[in-house]
Amino acid sequence: MKLSYPSKVYLNGEWLKPEEAKISVFDRGFLFGDGIYEVIPFYSGKLFLLKEHLQRLRYSLNEVELQCDISDFESIILKAIELTELNAADGAIYIQVSRGMAPRTHYFPENYDATVLVYAYKTNLRGFQNQFKDVLVSNDLRWHRCDIKSVSLMANILANTEAKKSDFSENIMIRDGCFTEGSHSSLFFVKDESVYTHPNGKFILPGITRNLLIKLCKENNIAIVEKALPVSELDEVTEVFITGTTTQITAIKNLHFPDRIINFGNDIGKITRRLQLLFCEEVKKRTGVDIS
Ligand code: PDD
Repeated sequence: MKLSYPSKVYLNGEWLKPEEAKISVFDRGFLFGDGIYEVIPFYSGKLFLLKEHLQRLRYSLNEVELQCDISDFESIILKAIELTELNAADGAIYIQVSRGMAPRTHYFPENYDATVLVYAYKTNLRGFQNQFKDVLVSNDLRWHRCDIKSVSLMANILANTEAKKSDFSENIMIRDGCFTEGSHSSLFFVKDESVYTHPNGKFILPGITRNLLIKLCKENNIAIVEKALPVSELDEVTEVFITGTTTQITAIKNLHFPDRIINFGNDIGKITRRLQLLFCEEVKKRTGVDIS
């Protein structure tokens, strides 16, 4: 996939070309990674689960005491899609809020104006049902507040770069002998016809797609267990899939450990397939767009 910059970005109240958008070298987002972000998908220009994403943004900002009024974010987001002429396209909104510019101190400055960046970009959100991917298994080196969508992502990017070196687009992580999640996706297993996923808390991000999947399982009599899966129980697992804003529901074919490869068949499992169908129905219901 060819990556490019958006034609316009919103920065602190202005709509600018990317090359015109500048922040201070003393911005705490730059100096400390002191910032929060969100990624929100849209199908044919129609935002999916916007309210849920803005709620999580509010949660993350609160957890790090980052003061920023986000009451006008919905209109900024809609304008980002319009200004970049993506009204008929599939894509995502990137939002970043940092603690702004201040002389460098480890403690929060008393007074600051948050730096706000918003842009829309085009990305492929169709055909995930045809993908059956391999992922690398890595150690979870992240901090103990993975529930906060912080821009400090060093552990995630190190692990994902290792995966990329083997041509995999994602890695999944292990902490204390149990699977947590991917570098940028939530993780699910099927065992004894039940769907397993790590419980929300300090060790995973409360994925918006994950939360929707749990709701879909409950509504459709698919057993769902929010319990961390120990690596030692992997041989009882029949299906693996990852979820996320840009990942949607992607089936996993092989797990690559440093010393072995675990395979999950040659075809996508039936529960993964069923959830993919239910997900498409939910997108249709909420946006009117058929992605099946
Ligand atoms: N990442 N876990 C992590 C660590 C993530 O970074 C993400 C999303 C998810 C899935 O969450 P959601 O369903 O809300 O997208 C889980 C985004 C897309 C990113 O960093 O680009």
